[in-house]
This record gives sequence, structure tokens and C-alpha cells, in this order.
Amino acid sequence: MIQAPKGTFDIFGNKAVSYRNLEGIIHDLCVRFGVTELRTPTFEYTELFHRGVGETTDVVQKEMYTFSDAGDRSLTLRPEGTAPACRAYLEHGMGSLPQPVKLYYISSFYRAEKPQKGRYRQFQSFGTEYFGSTDPAADAEIIALGWELFRLLGITGVELRINSIGDRECRLKYNTELREFIGSQLDRLCPVCKERAATNPLRVLDCKEEGCKRVLNDAPDILSTLGPDCKAHFGKVLGFLKAMGIPYTVDSRIVRGLDYYTKTVFEYISSDLGSQSALGGGGRYDHLMETIGGPSVPAVGFGIGIERLLIALEAQQAEQAAQIPPVVFIGAIPSQTNFAAGLTHKLRQSGISAQWDISGRSLKAQMKAADKSGARYSLVIGDDEAASNSATLKEMATGEQTTMILDKLTEFLTRKV
Ligand code: HAM
Repeated sequence: MIQAPKGTFDIFGNKAVSYRNLEGIIHDLCVRFGVTELRTPTFEYTELFHRGVGETTDVVQKEMYTFSDAGDRSLTLRPEGTAPACRAYLEHGMGSLPQPVKLYYISSFYRAEKPQKGRYRQFQSFGTEYFGSTDPAADAEIIALGWELFRLLGITGVELRINSIGDRECRLKYNTELREFIGSQLDRLCPVCKERAATNPLRVLDCKEEGCKRVLNDAPDILSTLGPDCKAHFGKVLGFLKAMGIPYTVDSRIVRGLDYYTKTVFEYISSDLGSQSALGGGGRYDHLMETIGGPSVPAVGFGIGIERLLIALEAQQAEQAAQIPPVVFIGAIPSQTNFAAGLTHKLRQSGISAQWDISGRSLKAQMKAADKSGARYSLVIGDDEAASNSATLKEMATGEQTTMILDKLTEFLTRKV
């Protein structure tokens, strides 16, 4: 038996309905915020992620699905959506549109991570990216958009943790302080941290090893090294959040796992997710566009994992309606299956959700299936019904029966739904 690759899964039945409902809610929400959809290719030139996401990140060093095509070009299945969104912005000259340009996507992403609950090798993420505004109001609006999604879905117990990791100048100062601290603790840190201390000290703060975490509790606080501009920016973001009634916790240990962030960084943490507790995360990334060869374009965005949202929904038993039941189930005796096929098709063309038997079951078994399907009405086509073009419609919940000319059925059902 060939199975789906490790860390991947099929989506069907009730799960597919949950995905679809969730996607619908997200699309509507984005319309309300004036954010338009972006769809990018599943794979990009590898260089985009090397330059965009950062050579020293786990994603680029260990997790990318990279391959060469027949022309020996190196391609990578997208591990995230921000670098592709920047590439698309540049490629289509979106800089000449009125700014900010506000884009969102719901796409699949690929990371060769160790699979566990909430962590897969193919997953879906809802991402939003705002391009062309340096204003803290853009950071706050993005954060509010994610927050509104949780409210709409009825997901409670989400905590917004927010931090500022400053701009390039603040970071230079902070990196020096952090390197000094790490240097003094080197023998207590894991080999990966030791290596990162030289290449990208901020990454050290992201280490998940318990021993390292204990040591890093005493690391210098990044917020205390912020320059006046970054401090003011952060203060304004927090002010907007307060004005919008969005509760937050300032957490100077939030640094994010990707290299492109500047100033604001944040995560939405849920207590229902176990060890993969981040429902989503994001931040400002004012230099990514230049890193991939474009002009300077300030930007801010987030990514929220669709599977993690569904886990949180399930944990809170707020899962969206499962399979949507048909309005009517049409049963037929064996000699009238053509009639049932024609009637069902006609109802569907008129926008009515109708089911009929496509398994060659007995009439008794068909009626059992009608019951199971949760249909609101059922009717049976026998020889008499076909000849008179009329049938008795039964309301399943009450047993109430109505005989009617079948030509009137669409009109009747449309009124009832
Ligand atoms: P990220 O934190 O790497 O950020 O991913 C965003 C979200 O995707 C995570 O919070 C999580 O919910 C989900 N996710 C990540 N990896 C997995 C996985 N292996 N399995 C299941 N879900 C996963 C980014 O990707 C940034 N591009 C976000 C961003 C947009 N920053 C600015 N704009």
C-alpha cells in the first residue's frame, strides 16, 4: 500500500467542509479590511528564500524541499509566503499603485520538519502582507485583522505576545551586548547556539533546549536597547491596540524564527495547541524588499496556520457545521431511476441541494440513506408518480406529507429553505 508521505494528509468529508467554511470566513474578513487576494506559484527559485528568509534560519538550513528541474535550475517548494509576496509585488510593479498595497493568501506551504500535532510537512497558512506604510497604524491594523478572525471563529484563550526587535542600528547595538553575554555563558549552551552566536546571535534566543532557555533568561533585554525612533514606533503600536480594545502582553523573548523582521514582532499563542502553541505570528519587515533586489518598501504581515486554527476550534468544540445536509433526498423504484436522475439534476440546476441513490440500493435502503443524510425532505418516485408527474413530499422531522405536481417542487423547496 502506498501511503501519503510522512507529515502530509488528505482532506475530505467533514474536514473538507471545515476547511471550506474557514476559508469563506477568511475571504469575507479580508474584504471587510480592504485586503485583496494574491496567489503565487507553489515553487520559486531557491535563491528567493535564501536571500529573503535568511541563510542562518532553520527553515533555509534544514527544512526546504529543494530540487533541480530539467534545465538544472534550483527550485524550492515555498516554505512561507512573505518572500513570494514581495517577489510578486516587485514583479508586477505594485509600487506604482496607491500605497499601502494590502494582500492576503491562503496557500499550502512545505517544510521538512519533524511531524507532530500541529506541525506538518505540508500545511496551509492564511497570510496577510501590507506593503508601503512605515506607520505603526499598519502594524496595529494587521494585528487587529488576525485578532478579529479569532473572535469571528469563537476561538477564545488566545494571547497576543508582542515585542520590538528594533531596526538595523538598534540590532547592531543589541547583537554586541548579546554576543558578550553568550560569550560569558558559552560552555552552558548547546552546540547550535554556540555556532549561532557568531552568525546570528538573535537566533540563540529562539533555542528550544531547556538548558539554553534557563541560561538565556538572564540575557540582556532587547527592549532596553531600542533607539528613540523604534521606541516611539512600538509605543504607538501599543497605543493603537489599546484604542482597539485588543489585549496584549509585551514579551521581549519573542524574536521569531525568520530573519527578515525589524521593529514590531508578535505571536498569537493558544493554550489549546500543546507544544506547537503559536496559532500565528508575524511582524514588520522593512528591508526584505531590498534584500531580494528591489527598492526600499516598508512592510508588515502575519501568517496564521489553518490546521492549528482547526485544532483550536475542535478543542473548543466550536467546529463549523459538518457535512451540510441536502434539502431533499429523492428515492426511486428500480424502473424509475432515470426519472429520479432527471428530477435531481433539475433541482440542482435551480440551486437546491438534492441527493438521489447512485448505489443501486433497494427502496428501503434508500430511505435509510435519506434519514442518515439529514435531508429535510424526502420523496419517492414510483410508476404512478412518474406517470402523474406528482409525488408526496415528506418532511423528515415531522412526518408531515404534501402531495404536489413535481413542476412546482423547485418553487416549494426554494420557499422552504
Ligand atoms: P511562521 O511563524 O513561520 O511565519 O508561520 C506562520 C504560521 O504557520 C505559524 O504560526 C503556524 O501556525 C503555521 N505553521 C508554521 N509551520 C508549520 C508547520 N510545519 N505545520 C503546521 N503549521 C505551521 C511565517 O511563515 C511568516 N511568513 C509570517 C509572516 C507573514 N510574517 C510576515 N508576514
